[in-house]
Amino acid sequence: MQCPSFTMFWFYVSVFVFCCSTEAARELAGNKKFPAVIFFGDSTVDPGNNNHLLLSLAKSNFPPYGRDFIGGVATGRFSNGKIPSDFIVEKLGIKELLPAYLDPNLRPEDLLTGVSFASGGSGYDPLTSELVSSISLEDQLKMFQEYIGKLKEIAGEKRTNTILTKGLFGVVASSNDIANVYFDTHIRQLQYNIFTYTDFLVRSASTFLQELYGLGARKIAVFGAPPLGCLPSSKTFAGEIISREKCVELYNQAARLFSDKLSAEVDRLNSNLADAKLVFFDIYNPLLDLIQDPNKYGFEIVDRGCCGTGIIETSVLCNPLSFNTCTNASSYMFWDSYHPTEQTYKIMVSNIMKKEKLVKRFS
Ligand SMILES: *[C@@H]1O[C@H](CO)[C@@H](O)[C@H](O)[C@H]1NC(C)=O
Repeated sequence: MQCPSFTMFWFYVSVFVFCCSTEAARELAGNKKFPAVIFFGDSTVDPGNNNHLLLSLAKSNFPPYGRDFIGGVATGRFSNGKIPSDFIVEKLGIKELLPAYLDPNLRPEDLLTGVSFASGGSGYDPLTSELVSSISLEDQLKMFQEYIGKLKEIAGEKRTNTILTKGLFGVVASSNDIANVYFDTHIRQLQYNIFTYTDFLVRSASTFLQELYGLGARKIAVFGAPPLGCLPSSKTFAGEIISREKCVELYNQAARLFSDKLSAEVDRLNSNLADAKLVFFDIYNPLLDLIQDPNKYGFEIVDRGCCGTGIIETSVLCNPLSFNTCTNASSYMFWDSYHPTEQTYKIMVSNIMKKEKLVKRFS
């Protein structure tokens, strides 16, 4: 026999659960600092755009990439798991992962909370993306324009405008320019020295930021260069095959020089562009601290990547045939000879959110 009050009890319970969970969802949406997050740049924040480029040499949509990702899938992210753009949207309570703009499975509603236009192998120097057939920053802006058109169709003019003015934009580039195109391959050393090359990169970054502003972006996070001389690949290129403890100072100096100039340019743009909020984030010092004091962060190995020997393996060189790949990537700072592990990215984003107070600096 069914007791009526018992039925009523479950009715109230379900009403309560329904009411309060939608209430909680509404609250979360209301508290959200940014309606969307949009990234531009290189492999640090590319969730798989390059999978859709026929000729690109910068790919990672094969094992062992993605080994520790949800379902162990190689999505085209250049790591064993999530990348910084994923951790940022997750920490902001927006969504679990930031998808690639070129992902054919994107639903219209995915566009409303943001995407990434970034492409592994690209940089502020147009030659950088050309060398590996990735999407240049200029072409990433063209895709962004197309995206704005789609937003207007889905959400209308007014909501699109809110997404652009209140959304968080992020730009991560310069590592491929400085480490690969300038130092490793020496290509740009035919025309530039490190002073004129970093000037050239900052001019290019400034043009990009002004164009992004011109398209409607207002809150823009600009990230500096990491300690490039500490990348396992830099040590290999600089001839430090045996003695790998020390970072290559020449690369690190260049990273600092570029970051200082970029930071000054960001300040200048911030005061010149009306209603703009551009914020420079230093990633050099927090990452250097991690390299100099790995045990503090739970790392055991910081001088080579987990994949293969970790001395030369990046992109196609880190593949299913790479022997000797480590079993526990969390104890490594680098996943391949160039890209950090998910664990490093997690610590880096936590630093940007907590210590560098990302949300507060945009309010
Ligand atoms: C992997 O390494 C991390 C960091 O050193 C450690 O905390 C974790 O327990 C290790 N996991 C396994 C399964 O050994």
